[in-house]
Amino acid sequence: MKLYDVYPLFDVNIIKGDGCRVWDDKGTEYLDLYGGHAVISIGHAHPKYVEKISKQVAELGFYSNSVINALQQRVAEKIGRISGYEDYSLFFINSGAEANENALKLSSFKNGKKRVIAFKKAFHGRTSLAVEITDNPGIIAPINANGHTTYLQLGDIEGVRSEIAKGDVTAVIIEGIQGVGGIQIPSDEFLQELQMTCNETGTTLILDEIQSGCGRSGKFFAHQWAGIRPDIITQAKGIGNGFPIGVVLISPKFEPVYGELGTTFGGNHLACAAAEAVIDVMEEERLLENANSVGNFLMKELRGLEGIKEVRGRGLMIGIEFEEPIKEIRRRLLFEEHVFTGVSGTNVIRLLPPLTLTIEQAAEFIDRFKRVI
Ligand SMILES: Cc1ncc(COP(=O)(O)O)c(C=O)c1O
Repeated sequence: MKLYDVYPLFDVNIIKGDGCRVWDDKGTEYLDLYGGHAVISIGHAHPKYVEKISKQVAELGFYSNSVINALQQRVAEKIGRISGYEDYSLFFINSGAEANENALKLSSFKNGKKRVIAFKKAFHGRTSLAVEITDNPGIIAPINANGHTTYLQLGDIEGVRSEIAKGDVTAVIIEGIQGVGGIQIPSDEFLQELQMTCNETGTTLILDEIQSGCGRSGKFFAHQWAGIRPDIITQAKGIGNGFPIGVVLISPKFEPVYGELGTTFGGNHLACAAAEAVIDVMEEERLLENANSVGNFLMKELRGLEGIKEVRGRGLMIGIEFEEPIKEIRRRLLFEEHVFTGVSGTNVIRLLPPLTLTIEQAAEFIDRFKRVI
């Protein structure tokens, strides 16, 4: 059987990783400024991560959500503490899209409404509701186009107010920092006004921190730069460092009801071991501080280079926008300089490295990047 061919692939077979470096099957070493799409938070094959998951799988890999799993409670406490959301509750799931699906269900269960406000260039996933609130008609199948979503410009608070005034909006969903949309950062004032408007009208404010969360922006969640506390926060990617995990943080305004949400695999023992290792390492190695300092170094260096239109970002979530398409730059970075980077649209290079990236590795990237541009 062949693979269903939906991914345009680079001709590289990565077989090994260590920290911020990966190797292909021919032994070529690459610097990883992509983190497997913002997934690798504490570095490839971190010894504490390997040890914790290995021990857990040797003991118990899985049991169902019909019995107590003390690991889930421990992870919830650790995520609560590191994020400052100790009074919220946690629901475990397996991916980012599912986290958003469940966030929207919770909102609709609570206020009985159906319409969602999302923003232009938003990406929230590929399952039914998640794709319907994603601003990309090319990936919304007819069966998913059910008219639930109104897209507004990022920053359009008047638009949000007038849509909510129509009375049928269940939730506003916004990324902490738009990733696929090209590293677009909502202003602190906009997020604060959004929170106020949602609070006043009983509309659920959902912060999608699937890409921008878990310390990537230099705070645990990117929205914390604006000092807001949304009703629901979704997170995936970095919290598992490669193990598929999604989580939904739910404010005390919501009352859980038996059977309302559920999952077979969400919160399984291995997923919990992975998440616990991630949080422990983030604290022990002070990775929020590292994301800030190395991110600031990278942005300062990049802003000093000629030929770049704009550098945007917070922490280790950085967009480098060019006037022209970057396909060739990215290809040369990979095949000539052996650096993995991400992309947004046609003109933006996205940097999403492991949060363990050192200043020396960042400087090494800048040298290789300079040679290419
Ligand atoms: C902001 C955001 N939300 C949701 C998703 C979907 O996550 P997943 O691919 O785990 O379903 C992504 C994935 O890139 C994302 O960047």
